[in-house]
Amino acid sequence: MKIVTIIGARPQIIKAAALSRAIKTHYANKIQEIIVHTGQHYDDNMSAVFFDELGIPRPDYNLHVGSASHGVQTARMTEGIEGILLKEQPDFIVLYGDTNSTLAGAVAAAKIHIPIAHVEAGLRSFNKAMPEEINRIVCDHCSTLLFSPTQAGVENLQREGFALINEPPYTIDNPKVYHCGDIMYDNSLHFAEIAETKTNIINKLGLKDRPFILATIHRDTNTDYPERLDAIFSALLTLSEQYHVVLPLHPRTNKLLKTNLEAAKQEQLFSSPNISIIPPVSFLEMIALERHARLVMTDSGGVQKEAYFFKKPCIILRPETEWIEIVQTGNAILADANESRIMQAWQHFNDNPPTKFPEIFGDSHAAEFILNEMLQQEM
Ligand code: UD1
Ligand code: UDP
Repeated sequence: MKIVTIIGARPQIIKAAALSRAIKTHYANKIQEIIVHTGQHYDDNMSAVFFDELGIPRPDYNLHVGSASHGVQTARMTEGIEGILLKEQPDFIVLYGDTNSTLAGAVAAAKIHIPIAHVEAGLRSFNKAMPEEINRIVCDHCSTLLFSPTQAGVENLQREGFALINEPPYTIDNPKVYHCGDIMYDNSLHFAEIAETKTNIINKLGLKDRPFILATIHRDTNTDYPERLDAIFSALLTLSEQYHVVLPLHPRTNKLLKTNLEAAKQEQLFSSPNISIIPPVSFLEMIALERHARLVMTDSGGVQKEAYFFKKPCIILRPETEWIEIVQTGNAILADANESRIMQAWQHFNDNPPTKFPEIFGDSHAAEFILNEMLQQEM
């Protein structure tokens, strides 16, 4: 079986590591993987760093699309991916998550009848102002095999008309929905111990015996609105009086802080001895930070889940989440970009540190399940 895997943004590169590792370990003589990097993320610390660290094969193609408006970026990717698919004629294209690289892959493949396997299918925030929500919906409705990490994802698909009783052969018009667990759970468990021995970030930042909050912020709904950025950073500044704050800064946020956060607050933030604002870190460093943090504050989809994997409370800096289970189990609170709600959430977790983290993200073998199911299809 020949598959083309599309990666582009940081989380997709990390997710792809799980499938590539399972191919290498279990299916090397059965599956040929061609990796296409769209170039959506291109800084070394947003892309290159992950390949060596996570053992991902070098991309066979790089489209180098870089940054642009949604339309321009997606169009460039779609054109490039279409050309590669026509040349390679794979049995499947594998798409991850919900970025513009996912959308481009879906549109390119569906129109030339290459079956799509969507990993992280079915997730919904029910907020179509998010570009990711549009990308997820389009990709799911163009897919042949839909791999949902959660039961909620399966139910969302059912509500949108996907039948769970379809019989093979599966096609875009007769798709198959699977509940298979989360490949990021596979990854986080696989790399957790390695992160302890291979990284030094905890010592480097002087965090060994120092409780700290780990924060990440990059959603356009936060970075593009001065009042929302102000609320988040005001809360972080207040919290930093009690606990050290570590903030690996996404390039989007780094750029927009300069225009969208008032100068005095920027000065306070960057000069505070209690806040470590650092460039994006590698995945192993991120895992080490997550494991040692007291609490995680984030608007990232991946990071809120990893907080759960490592049994840490999480304050989600969004009004809603597609990972509703972590909120339902009481281990994360949706505080939005609202200073008082962030402070209340902090107080809540300080007074009642969560202790129960039920296994809701599978058995850490999602990648093998996905590959096995793809191999079963006789397209
Ligand atoms: C993208 C995804 C988002 C995902 C995030 C993961 C879409 C619509 N958004 O958001 O779902 O959560 O990736 O991190 O696909 N930039 C750099 N260097 C880079 C990459 C980006 O400086 O290597 C800067 C550029 O100024 C760029 C901005 O970041 O304009 C935003 O990058 P983009 O890929 O468009 O969106 P993200 O916010 O990263
Ligand atoms: N991540 C990382 N370095 C960082 C910040 C995040 O390796 O400095 C990892 C994180 O552990 C998670 C993924 O990147 O696996 C999440 O990506 P991001 O927050 O950019 O996007 P999202 O998940 O929101 O789409």
